[in-house]
Order: sequence, then structure tokens, then C-alpha cells
Amino acid sequence: MPDTYAAITAVEGYVPPDKLTNKELEQMVDTNDEWIMSRTGIAERRILKGKDKGTSVMAIEAVNGLLKKRDLDPAEIDLIICATVTPDMQFPATANIVSDAVGAINAFSYDINAACSGFIYALVTGAKFIEAGTYKKVVVIGGDKMSSIIDYTDRATCIIFGDGAGAVLLEASDEPYGIMDSILKSDGSGAQFLHQKAGGSRRPASHATVDAREHFVYQEGQAVFKFAVNNMAEVSAQIMERNGLKAEDIAWLVPHQANKRIIDATAQRMGLGPEKVMLNIHKYGNTTAGTLPLCLWDYEKQLKKGDYLVLSAFGGGFTWGAVLVRWAYDPS
Ligand code: UT7
Repeated sequence: MPDTYAAITAVEGYVPPDKLTNKELEQMVDTNDEWIMSRTGIAERRILKGKDKGTSVMAIEAVNGLLKKRDLDPAEIDLIICATVTPDMQFPATANIVSDAVGAINAFSYDINAACSGFIYALVTGAKFIEAGTYKKVVVIGGDKMSSIIDYTDRATCIIFGDGAGAVLLEASDEPYGIMDSILKSDGSGAQFLHQKAGGSRRPASHATVDAREHFVYQEGQAVFKFAVNNMAEVSAQIMERNGLKAEDIAWLVPHQANKRIIDATAQRMGLGPEKVMLNIHKYGNTTAGTLPLCLWDYEKQLKKGDYLVLSAFGGGFTWGAVLVRWAYDPS
């Protein structure tokens, strides 16, 4: 048992006001509301509109909300980690931009890129700094402006993704609350099924890459679906088993919101009924690194001190994993 635990002491989220509904998508590509709802569970997503607005715009809103909620001086933050695949720029890190904007003058900050698993990777990384006794207050952000890398002529991907960001505050606790255990995995051989072809050092942006629409998400949906169902369910069941927890001990599954069918399969494998599954995919779609903190934000008022939560994700890389969290506070 560690002397210090990394407790989640606040959560906040931000989604832009503009909605993109299934009906609107019907006007853009050959699809229909019934297909999208039955195959994914998504009814609408949020889109960040406006010139020169990147992921940081949403992350800053979430972090400022977090600071306000906890009445925290930003100078007290030691570290900010931002999980994203849609940084404002290739460099500097979006976390650097957020730190500056929120006035975290004493924090160092960096980004983590683990696609849809980014938030759990960042959460576990941030928690380690606290458990080691190095830092006391860490902000972990998950957010993506997926609309910046989505091809709105490709019906197989444009129906899934949306924009949004969430953030949590991790604080040192000498009581056993917070990040209790984690299983993090990756398998780079999955890159072929889910990636963005151009814009990196292998294929820098050129007229040819733009003309070939290579700056958008490329996904082989069925292949990703199979890996996601198996791996998310497996790792979620594994983290319960190795901590001696049964379905009745788990208050909530907090699953990555990629596809309602993947979420249902994961819950089933864990033996959980739908009443214990956080779900907001219908209103936000898949916000990549944003899904898990946005779930915690939406359900915060239903969480009680001592609740066991299993956070679970699968995404590009492939990356996947599960984190066992013991919730640290009652609703205010
Ligand atoms: O978060 C990162 C990880 N990503 C995921 O976890 C996503 C995993 N994959 C999925 O969620 C699903 O594979 C999709 C939602 C992307 C697609 O659902 P699917 O049930 O796997 O559909 P499919 O790709 O097998 O396509 C079935 C049919 C095809 O038509 P044919 O060949 O049977 O005639 C597609 O062309 O559905 C067609 N289709 C569509 N039809 C209407 C594909 N997209 C659409 C669409 N509207 N938007």
C-alpha cells in the first residue's frame, strides 16, 4: 500500500455550443439517422466553430472551471498533462498553451498522445508524480477537436466523432482514494487500421497530401471494432479480478464512448447492468481523449465517496487499458 494516493478532487468539462445532428449529416453524406443510432448510439455531436480555435480553447474552459470549483490559485498547480491527438500546433504542446492561459506559472506541462486511451495514460502518469511524493497538485486534461481531422465526405468516420474536453484535478491524499490500480497496453501493429496518413515527419503536408485527403482520420471500422470489443472487455474484467472486486462492488463503468455496442459488450463481460454504465455518446459522439473526463463531469452529481469506478478505453495505436478509481468526494 502506498503512503500517498492520487485522489481525483474535482472534475470539469467543456463542449462547444454548436451541434451537428444525424439529420444534418443526412444532408452531407449518404447516411441516415436510423443507421447511425443503431450502429453507434450517436444522435448528435458538438463542433468547435470559429477561426483559429484549437483544442486549447476547450481545455482552457475546462481547467478554468476546475480552478473555480476548487477555489484554487493556478500558481499552486505543479503539473498539467494534456492528452490529445489534435494539438493546436505540432509544437509547442497544447498543455504549454493551456498553462499560460490559466496562469499556472509554477507548473511544467506536456502532452500525451495515446488517441482514445490518452486520458487514462495521462491520468496514470500524473498519479505517479503524486504517489512518488514529487508533486501535490496535477491537472489532467483529455480533449480533442476531432472536427479538424475528419473528412466530412466520408460517411464511415464523419458520423462518429465530435469535439470536447474535460479535466480532473489530482491531489495527494493519505487515505486510499483515487487511482488504485491500472492496466495500460499498446500494440503498434494496430496502426494500419487507424491513423492519419500525412502531416507527420513521414509524410509532411504538401499539395499532394491535401489533394489525396490524407490529413483526415483513416479507419478500418470493422477491424478496430473487433479489437476494441475484445480488449476493452478483457482489461476491464481483469482489473476487477486482480483487485478481488465483483460486479456488485463496482458502482460505475466509465467507458470510452466510441460505439454503444462496444460499451454494452464491456459492461456485459464485467457483469454490470446498464444502470451502472456512464453514457453520453448520444449527445457528444466520440471526442477521443475527451470522452472519459466528459463522462465523469456529466455524472459527477451521482458519484459518492468510496464508489469504485472502472475507467476503460481503446483507441488508435492500438492503445487500451483500464483504471480502477475510488471516488474521493460526495456531491456538493
Ligand atoms: O475510438 C477509436 C476507436 N474506434 C472505434 O472503436 C470504432 C470501431 N468501429 C465501429 O464503431 C464501427 O465499425 C463503425 C460504426 C465505424 C461502422 O459500423 P459497422 O457495423 O462496423 O459497419 P461496417 O463498416 O461493417 O459497414 C456496414 C455497411 C457497409 O455497407 P455494405 O458494404 O454492407 O453495403 C457500409 O458501407 O454499412 C455501410 N455504412 C454506412 N451506411 C450508412 C458505413 N457507414 C455508413 C453510414 N451510413 N454512415
